[in-house]
Amino acid sequence: MKKYIIKGGNRLSGEVSISGAKNAVLPILAATVISGKSSLISNIPRLKDVEVMVAILKSLGAEVDWGIDGILVNSSTINSVSLPEELVREMRSSIILMGALLARFGEAKLSYPGGCEIGPRPIDLHLKSLRQMGVVIEEAHGYLHCKAAELNGADIQLDYPSVGATENIMLAAATAKGTTVIRNAAREPEIIDLQDYLNKAGGKIKGAGTSIITIEGVKTLYECSHNIIPDRIVAGTFMVAAAITQGEVVLKNLVVEHLQSIIAKLRETGTYIESDGNLIRVVGVQNISSIEMLQTLPYPGFPTDMQAQFMALLSIAKGTSIINETVFENRFKHGEELARMGAHIKTFGKVAVIKGVNELTGAKVYARDLRGGAALVLAGLAAKGSTEVGNIHHIERGYDGFHTTLHRLGADIQLV
Ligand code: EPZ
Repeated sequence: MKKYIIKGGNRLSGEVSISGAKNAVLPILAATVISGKSSLISNIPRLKDVEVMVAILKSLGAEVDWGIDGILVNSSTINSVSLPEELVREMRSSIILMGALLARFGEAKLSYPGGCEIGPRPIDLHLKSLRQMGVVIEEAHGYLHCKAAELNGADIQLDYPSVGATENIMLAAATAKGTTVIRNAAREPEIIDLQDYLNKAGGKIKGAGTSIITIEGVKTLYECSHNIIPDRIVAGTFMVAAAITQGEVVLKNLVVEHLQSIIAKLRETGTYIESDGNLIRVVGVQNISSIEMLQTLPYPGFPTDMQAQFMALLSIAKGTSIINETVFENRFKHGEELARMGAHIKTFGKVAVIKGVNELTGAKVYARDLRGGAALVLAGLAAKGSTEVGNIHHIERGYDGFHTTLHRLGADIQLV
């Protein structure tokens, strides 16, 4: 199995240009199914999860060409509504194809998406919402068979601002009969990007980024092209890399507005941050301050996808920090691995208490999920001695050339 070997202690310095957002490109690639025409999506990171989504589109019969100016999808040739089980298992977020297939064909068949490393990941909000739109869903033998003679607009109140459920409803509603309102919708920037793509294709959607999204069903969607927004979590990860190594890094091609909660919490640790237009400069300090309470929340709150990276940073802060992971059930596995590097972390359900230590020591650790794996790399950059991070396939799902970028910034890291 591939692993990273990191010799800690180097300060990072230099510039990073941020790639397109994984969590924007996945729902937008699903949305290309609806029009039955061509869509050119650009600024796409080369990630495992994107390759899986491309494989799923091809398995449905779409023509997909991943060239230098992005991914060209011609969905006119799609001739199946059944998602391949092995690919759905590989990537939970393929559940958003359900809404797109229902919009185009009125039918979708897929195996129940497995939970994953960070908790059970139910899909009850997706199913309840689609049923409100007239979808009949049979759940049997681990399969979901969805059928809708006609998709009707509905007034949907989400119990929780689920990102995936909001996206699935938008896709199913885009060409439904009548108008759909989503209340308590997720407000993530990736939802706005999905709205932008759908409207460019002729959709009539408004309110993305707020808690109430209104989708007026249209007859059909058209050919269009769309440029994906920068990845705020990749940007946040490199900001923490600068902070944890007391380095100085400039990040370009990002949307500062999407990073406000990460900037605020990093500043609380004493890290110096200045932003100008679509550029951020991060300067790490020797004495990292602890954070009294770091709570993960739906956007615009502090993102759960940055929790692990901050736990690594707070492991070497002066003082004790508390993290409250309110979004997922079981997202502290990286804590056990950080403890092998000398971190003092105690977890109580959704709360973790991190007592800062002077320094971490290199050890053999294993990535257990995407962001937890990235956090172990960050810890290795700061640890004394050599750290081996195994199971890095988790990391490759969400970071395009992670070690090559870190190496270019001065990290002593190699892939073996
Ligand atoms: C998206 O996952 C992201 N994935 C996640 O990023 C991110 O952590 C999450 O949103 C929260 O921001 C993609 O966009 C591909 P949710 P999603 O539905 O849609 C519960 C990463 O690292 N819930 O907002 O699955 C659920 O169990 C990944 O890039 C239900 O109970 O997140 C969770 O506790 C990890 N029932 C909470 O809501 C449902 O029907 C948030 O889930 C749906 C969700």
